Amino acid sequence: MHIFILITILFVSNFSVAKKAKILHVEFYLHDIVGGSNRSAVQVAGQSSNVTGLNPITSMFGSVFVMDNALTSTPSLNSTLVGRAQGLYAMASQHNEFSLLMTLTFHFIQESYNGSSFSVVGRNPVMSEIREMPIVGGTGVFRMARGYCLAKTYSMDQMDAVVGYNVTIFL
Ligand SMILES: *[C@@H]1O[C@H](CO)[C@@H](O)[C@H](O)[C@H]1NC(C)=O
Ligand SMILES: *[C@@H]1O[C@H](CO)[C@@H](O)[C@H](O)[C@H]1NC(C)=O
Ligand SMILES: *[C@@H]1O[C@H](CO)[C@@H](O)[C@H](O)[C@H]1NC(C)=O
Ligand SMILES: *[C@@H]1O[C@H](CO)[C@@H](O)[C@H](O)[C@H]1NC(C)=O
Ligand SMILES: *[C@@H]1O[C@H](CO)[C@@H](O)[C@H](O)[C@H]1NC(C)=O
Repeated sequence: MHIFILITILFVSNFSVAKKAKILHVEFYLHDIVGGSNRSAVQVAGQSSNVTGLNPITSMFGSVFVMDNALTSTPSLNSTLVGRAQGLYAMASQHNEFSLLMTLTFHFIQESYNGSSFSVVGRNPVMSEIREMPIVGGTGVFRMARGYCLAKTYSMDQMDAVVGYNVTIFL
């Protein structure tokens, strides 16, 4: 009897492991444009980044931005638009670092990912070379997704940034 139950449990757990074996790898570039006339991220709360005489890190603590950032296939903003990253990020550290709380949806418009999205909630210490952020769920082909993003800044122009995303998703 006990052996039978054990075999059943082993079979069930093997079955669920086999079902979850699908791994997707997706790469794209995110364009965070906060300056100029075509900005895609706007500050909605907190102090301005350039109050003279104040430490920009501690004075921007509490600032909140809303983004609708383009996701493209190469670092050029002119390359194929694969989707958009929409959501909020907040300056969440008052210590000597720019650390953001990211609460974002990544929505895709290309090929088999068209109409699907995944959600990211995580810590983004933007001065670190590689930032890891967890994927906490998704819709469409990404329904019930788990995974992680590895984000690396590709280029910076004042506050505007192009960020490369390497995304691994377990379905
Ligand atoms: C902003 O976008 C418009 C329309 O796409 C374009 O004509 C204009 O050159 C852009 N301006 C800048 C500063 O990139
Ligand atoms: C910095 O401050 C100046 C003067 O207050 C303002 O004109 C400018 O738009 C500000 N720049 C940014 C990026 O907030
Ligand atoms: C994007 O295209 C516009 C107009 O076609 C061009 O002026 C601009 O230099 C291009 N930008 C990049 C980064 O290739
Ligand atoms: C994505 O889906 C929308 C709505 O179903 C459709 O209009 C659009 O043509 C699709 N785009 C691509 C690239 O397949
Ligand atoms: C993804 O990671 C690989 C290996 O580190 C790297 O060559 C590639 O540029 C990364 N892609 C992006 C979009 O940053």
